[in-house]
Amino acid sequence: MIIQESMLVQSQREIAHNIFEMKLQGKLVQEIQAPGQFIHIRVSEAFDMLLRRPISIASIDQENDEITIIYRAEGDGTRSLSKRNEGDRVDVLGPLGNGFPVEETNAGEVAYLIGGGIGVPPLYELSKQLTAKGVTCVHILGFQSENVVFYEEEFKALGETHIVTVDGTNGTEGFVTTVMQNLSEQFATYYSCGPQPMLKAVQEMYANKKGYLSFEERMGCGVGACFACVCQTTERAEANYIKVCSDGPVFPAGVIAI
Ligand code: FAD
Ligand code: FES
Repeated sequence: MIIQESMLVQSQREIAHNIFEMKLQGKLVQEIQAPGQFIHIRVSEAFDMLLRRPISIASIDQENDEITIIYRAEGDGTRSLSKRNEGDRVDVLGPLGNGFPVEETNAGEVAYLIGGGIGVPPLYELSKQLTAKGVTCVHILGFQSENVVFYEEEFKALGETHIVTVDGTNGTEGFVTTVMQNLSEQFATYYSCGPQPMLKAVQEMYANKKGYLSFEERMGCGVGACFACVCQTTERAEANYIKVCSDGPVFPAGVIAI
C-alpha cells in the first residue's frame, strides 16, 4: 500500500562531497516490498518546489521503522532537503514502483551489482538481501572522482567490491565497463542502476545474460497518473510505451529502448 506520511528525520550527514545520507522513520517502511523501490519527497513547502523528488531507498530497517536514503544535493530541491535536521519532518509518498527481483538469483549463485553515481544507493539494500539468502555479490561501482565515492566500506563488508573513478583517484581509472571487461562472466544475474549511457553499455556487454536495470526518469506524480515518465519500449515488451514510475523503475534488460 502507498502511504503519504510526515516522516521523522532521524539523522542527516554529508558522507561525500554534496552527497547526503538521511535516515527517516515512519509507518511506510512496513509497506516496502523490494529493494529498488523509491520514495517521492516534498523537499520544501515553497510554492515553486511543489513537485516531489524521487529518491531510492538505500537501506531498510523494518524493526525500527527506518529507511536510509542517499542523495546528491545538486539542484534547488535536493539542496533544500540537505538543510533538514534531526527531529524535522519530511512529507513522503511511498513506497513506490517495482524493485529488483531478489528471487531471480538462487542461493549459491553469483550476482553482479553494477552502479553509477547516484544509481549506487539502491544496490546497497539489494546486496544486503541477496547476501542474506546466500548469493555471492560482486559490486562494480563507478563514480566521477574520489571525493564523491560513498559506502565503499559498507559494500566491501558484503562482498567483492570494485571501485572505478573517471579520473582514477580511487580504484580503477575509467568506467564500470573497464572493470567488467576483466571480470569473468561466470555469474547468474546482473542488476544495474545508473545513468542511461551506463545502462546501455552494461546491457550490450552482457547481452546474453539475465539482467535487471533501474531507470532514473524525470517524474511528476510518481504513481502512474500523469505520463511524465513514459518511455518507449523495444519489440521485446508487450506495450509500446511504459511508465517508469509505476511499471518500473526496474525492468528486465532489453525491455526499454535505450
Ligand atoms: P532540479 O534540477 O531542481 O530538479 C528539477 C526537476 O527535474 C525535478 O522535478 C526533479 O525531480 C527532476 N530531475 C532532475 N534531475 C533528475 C534526475 N537525475 N532524475 C530524475 N529526475 C530529475 N538521486 C539521488 O541522489 N539518489 C537516489 O537514490 C536517487 N534515486 C532515484 C530514483 C528514481 C526512481 C528516480 C527517477 C530518480 C532518482 N534520483 C536519485 C534522481 C533524483 O530524483 C534527482 O537528482 C532529483 O530529483 C533532482 O532534484 P533537484 O531538485 O536537486 O534538481
Ligand atoms: Fe506520473 Fe509516472 S510520473 S505517470
